[in-house]
Amino acid sequence: MKFFADTADVADIADLAATGLLDGVTTNPSLIAKSGRNFLEVVKEICGIVDGPVSAEVVATDHATMMKEAAVLRALAPNICVKLPLTIDGLKTCKALTAEGVKTNVTLCFSANQALLAAKAGATYISPFVGRLDDIGHDGMELIQDIRTIYDNYDFKTEILVASVRSPVHVLAAARIGADVATMPPSVIRQLAGHALTEKGLAAFLADWAKTGQSIL
Ligand code: E4P
Repeated sequence: MKFFADTADVADIADLAATGLLDGVTTNPSLIAKSGRNFLEVVKEICGIVDGPVSAEVVATDHATMMKEAAVLRALAPNICVKLPLTIDGLKTCKALTAEGVKTNVTLCFSANQALLAAKAGATYISPFVGRLDDIGHDGMELIQDIRTIYDNYDFKTEILVASVRSPVHVLAAARIGADVATMPPSVIRQLAGHALTEKGLAAFLADWAKTGQSIL
């Protein structure tokens, strides 16, 4: 399972990239606004830090302008993945970019039928938003299971990129289902490594080691 960082915070991305555990990055207009930085500059910088795909989202809502924006984004770096909204124009743009060999991430997916359309449009990734579904009383993970079943039924190659991840519980559930990727805030990636018993056990080992008076170096 691949891990993407869902952020436009360059310092956080660099820190995680150094662990070797980061497979890509996703951004969206809200994350760019939060960074307070120029969109094209910050995305280009992220592409230089991470080898894997970096999703950068168009903001046009019509196909012709989406294509023009995609051309600007593609020119930034070879690892750009053009992020498109799950609308008819977004799907049309996805189909056209796929034909040109461009990586695409179809975002704002909230139903299995939407995911089916994205796969038919040749999307590299489909981004179902589990957290936002949970927020309105639905079961986000049920959607991931449905998409997994449908994609496997028809051998679609589109990767399931679980988005709007809020906690390690989402990551574990996505992994159990067999989702291809989870994109999550850096804080959640770091949370995955933590366990109270790990901390307690390490403290006990170090305390006992100190009693020996020895040193390895
Ligand atoms: C990722 O591609 C999405 O834009 C992101 O995961 C949305 O997360 P949110 O629902 O926490 O804003």
